[in-house]
Amino acid sequence: MKKKITIAIDGFSSTGKSTIAKLLAKKYNYIYVDTGAMYRAVTYFGMKSKLVNKDGFKSESLILKLKDIKLTFKFNKILGFAEMFLNNINVEKEIRTLQVSQQVSKVAAIPEVRRKLVAEQQLMGVNGGIVMDGRDIGTVVFPDADLKLFMTASADKRATRRYKELIDNGDNVNFEEVLFNVQERDRIDSTREDSPLMKAEDAIEFDNSDMGIDEQFERICTLVDSKLF
Ligand code: DC
Repeated sequence: MKKKITIAIDGFSSTGKSTIAKLLAKKYNYIYVDTGAMYRAVTYFGMKSKLVNKDGFKSESLILKLKDIKLTFKFNKILGFAEMFLNNINVEKEIRTLQVSQQVSKVAAIPEVRRKLVAEQQLMGVNGGIVMDGRDIGTVVFPDADLKLFMTASADKRATRRYKELIDNGDNVNFEEVLFNVQERDRIDSTREDSPLMKAEDAIEFDNSDMGIDEQFERICTLVDSKLF
């Protein structure tokens, strides 16, 4: 019988981690967890509660409120992936805005936030059969993952993808601010003290600047298949 493995996908923002992760989850019938959505939902909660805004944030108050934050993923059969619910309300669209992207890295740098979310992520993965994407999956959440991928691409390519997503979502943004946000998030995510974004020693690096989804997916499936028996 085939093993149910754990696949960790980390990398810079907008490198197409979630696209690959969703395809893998569908093909192998695995659970897919977008951990960025969890950090985004906490950030959105902070913004709604006026504890996080563009001029700063009240981290102590947000830490005290963490116990009131319930995050759940609910699978949407029509979309084919799980949507993020914050205290039982679907926030899938709200958490993807540029406003949330501009605040999320500073919230994700708070150790108490990370501790809560990492514990929840580890619970979701206890039985294997999971594809999880984020920044610290191969280094902190599942250091023993069966397969670790680390995705990179040029900042310009990444900002172009992100810009298209935001425009398709109906957001009124300009390319320059999206490019700045992508670079700024990478800077904060890679330099924070608590579990910074970095490639795990045993992760396989994928630069997909000039690689289409089909080619990436085919290569990654070969890697997954090699781990299944
Ligand atoms: O994957 P994403 O771009 O939606 O993630 C949003 C932010 O959340 C990202 O800039 C950094 C943070 N994040 C994190 O610190 N650790 C994770 N495992 C996932 C995301």
